[in-house]
Amino acid sequence: MMKVTIPDLGSKEVQSKSDKELGKAITEGKGKMKPVKNLSDKDVHDVVALIPELCAAVSLRVSREA
Ligand code: HEM
Repeated sequence: MMKVTIPDLGSKEVQSKSDKELGKAITEGKGKMKPVKNLSDKDVHDVVALIPELCAAVSLRVSREA
């Protein structure tokens, strides 16, 4: 198995990227992450806007489980 590191989307490094860069990673793929095709500009915008909420939900769950 090839080693794959999935970045923490809540990290400062990722959060400091522009919406455009994040959208590009989703539609064109990045490194090991495959592109997601057939998304409208609005879809991409919506997913990028959800990233902080997804991160907040995940870290809340992690802290509950700890
Ligand atoms: C809601 C689902 C997902 C969203 C919104 C998402 C979004 C992103 C974004 C915005 C980046 C770029 C981060 C950066 O520029 O530094 C990224 C990178 C990456 N994602 Fe995802 N991702 C999702 C699901 C997944 C899944 C399911 C996998 C693997 C099974 C995955 C694997 C990766 C990897 C390996 C990278 C790093 C690419 C590289 O720099 O080499 N992602 N993702």
